Amino acid sequence: VRVAVVFGGRSGEHSVSCATAAGVLRAMDRDRYEVVPVGITREGRWVLAPDEPELLEGGRAEVSASNGQLLVPLGSSPAPLVVSESGQVPQELGAVDVVLPLLHGPYGEDGTLQGLLEMAGTRYAGSGVLASAVGMDKHYMKIVLAGHGLPIGPYTVITPRSWRTDPAAALDAVASLEMPVFVKPSRAGSSLGVTKVERPEDVEAAVVAAQQHDPKVIVEAAVSGREIECAVLEGHGDDPPRASVPGEVVLDNPDSGFYDYDTKYLDTAPLTMSIPADLPEAVTDRVRDLAGRAFDALGCEGLARVDFFYTDSGDVVVNEVNTMPGFTPYSMYPALWQASGLSYPELVDELVQLALE
Ligand code: DAL
Ligand code: MG
Repeated sequence: VRVAVVFGGRSGEHSVSCATAAGVLRAMDRDRYEVVPVGITREGRWVLAPDEPELLEGGRAEVSASNGQLLVPLGSSPAPLVVSESGQVPQELGAVDVVLPLLHGPYGEDGTLQGLLEMAGTRYAGSGVLASAVGMDKHYMKIVLAGHGLPIGPYTVITPRSWRTDPAAALDAVASLEMPVFVKPSRAGSSLGVTKVERPEDVEAAVVAAQQHDPKVIVEAAVSGREIECAVLEGHGDDPPRASVPGEVVLDNPDSGFYDYDTKYLDTAPLTMSIPADLPEAVTDRVRDLAGRAFDALGCEGLARVDFFYTDSGDVVVNEVNTMPGFTPYSMYPALWQASGLSYPELVDELVQLALE
């Protein structure tokens, strides 16, 4: 089976994607898979990358046009975004059986790459165009979750136009939420551009910071409780989605802030996960049930990680669905499956098999 592993990309989570790809490249059984590593630079240039996972680790890796060669027709029909540089003949990749789009964030996890692969008639792992797009946009994700009767927390959205024309009304809407609040770019990940705001006078600066990542901003009331995450895999055939044991994000020093980018990727991240989460059995069941329902609500395929709050008053609230969760050696998603009886290489096999079904 010839598998293109695509990583990097035009998002703030470029380096996270590289780390995810490193883990997957290491795990793939080379007797069964012929692996074609395809990097996308921050500028959007596609390159055939060296098959050297150690170059991609560490949380700060970059795909550059100089450490790879130029690419690509992917699949059998020529992809519309093929790059070629004058004077150089693009390298022929030949057909691939399946693509693993290991991209996080906009231009990769948001349906754009998925659309390109649909256009090219290529099979790929993970969610399709709509679920990817909805999962990337926290605003529409909440609408879809709520529309399916799933529990979500209070929030308000600040569109670019509302901010330009009536910022006072936008700030009033935020003021109707209980402090503290999280101010987030609607379409980003790994906590990039996210600020936890304790005082109303700090909201404006946080909105401007979030707008650096996405002109649309979402403000969520902070839910007081524990952060619980559950990994989901699509079922085979007509089977329902499978949910892992839940895990808990445990911050070493909760006073220092929240589960931000540095904590996720640059610190000693394994200390921040407790697996399985120490929860009453009924709560574990509830989390796993809601995880599968959230997966289906968005119409996810392949995999997703569903993140929750277990509130101080005993409720379980869905925070978000990640359609391409972090897959680094420090990441919750593979660790949850490991604890549920599926090793990292078995998990990668599952994703390839599901994509080929
Ligand atoms: N957005 C990061 C990769 C995650 O959800 O794990
Ligand atoms: Mg996320």
